[in-house]
Amino acid sequence: MNYKFRVSLTENSRITSLDFDNIPFGKVFTDHMFVADYIDGTWTNLEIKPLEYFSVHPANLAWHYGQSIFEGMKASRDEEGNPLLFRPELHAQRFNASAERMCMPTIPEDLFVQAISNLVAVEKKWIPPAKGSAMYIRPFMIATDEFIGVRPSNNYKFIIFTLPVGPYYSRPVKLKAEETYIRAAKGGVGDAKTAGNYAAALYPTKLAEQDGYDQVLWLDANEFKYIQEVGTMNIFFVIGDTVITPSTSEGTILRGITRRSIIALLKDKGYKVEERPLSIDEVVEAYDNGHLKEVFGSGTAAVVAMVNEIKYRDTIMKLDHESYKIAKLAKQTIDDLRARKTEDKHGWIVPATAENILVS
Ligand code: COI
Repeated sequence: MNYKFRVSLTENSRITSLDFDNIPFGKVFTDHMFVADYIDGTWTNLEIKPLEYFSVHPANLAWHYGQSIFEGMKASRDEEGNPLLFRPELHAQRFNASAERMCMPTIPEDLFVQAISNLVAVEKKWIPPAKGSAMYIRPFMIATDEFIGVRPSNNYKFIIFTLPVGPYYSRPVKLKAEETYIRAAKGGVGDAKTAGNYAAALYPTKLAEQDGYDQVLWLDANEFKYIQEVGTMNIFFVIGDTVITPSTSEGTILRGITRRSIIALLKDKGYKVEERPLSIDEVVEAYDNGHLKEVFGSGTAAVVAMVNEIKYRDTIMKLDHESYKIAKLAKQTIDDLRARKTEDKHGWIVPATAENILVS
């Protein structure tokens, strides 16, 4: 179905104040946003308009009981400056899986993709051309009922805003394997992209930072044995000639779209890739035997982030990220695909076009 969006454009673009050579992650926002309301069981008021504050009642259900989900996507550009999206339909599907888990309404996939496509097309001048930079896209949904009591909201807001961004990690990352706190347990919400998962990780991450580490490497909730993910990304290990990433089948790990893409790209290139339970002991043993060759994270924000140290109890595993081959290949391939510099044989790259807008 083709949705029609009302559009009002700003006359005061802030783009002239952006230093395209020096873009921090997460701080600069583009001029417009997409908004839609869920009222009486229908998505309505579909609109692209200047980015603005909005007010909600203090009893907003999202703030008290956490009905809040989001996605993270990126738009890139080809050499002619045409805006491109990376596997937007998978983000729509994951958004809806998060919505169902949090008892929120789903959004028709075509509405989700058209909203992003139109907004990105409107904002295309903001897509930074530099390698490693992109336009980050943040679709999110919050409950909007004003009510004190634990029940799902009847009304919601779906909003998309965008940010030009540089690299999320500008240097290799150090991880601390966590044995006191957990991120996700079987039956929980670990595979939903919901705000509470990130809030729950803040305190253990602060402790890891105090210990000199950038991020927590999460272990399973039952035995603190099997590796899950890093708070900001999925994780890959190269042991011998095999690329291993923890399987997502238990529902405790975010089903990363970059993760899934890297698995497919590496398999295309003939690498042996395994998705399976991976214990921290197996990693330590591989390190001790000299078989642990590479560790890297994957995510929309991080793309591919080299890991150069992992601490587990008293063992500190130091790795030479400069020597990594597979991580660099994965990053280069994703970057090239996003810039349309290599053949997109899976059809993952989708042009962002402004087709459905009614400029008012
Ligand atoms: C993403 O990779 O898009 C995320 O949502 C992770 C967050 C740390 C920015």
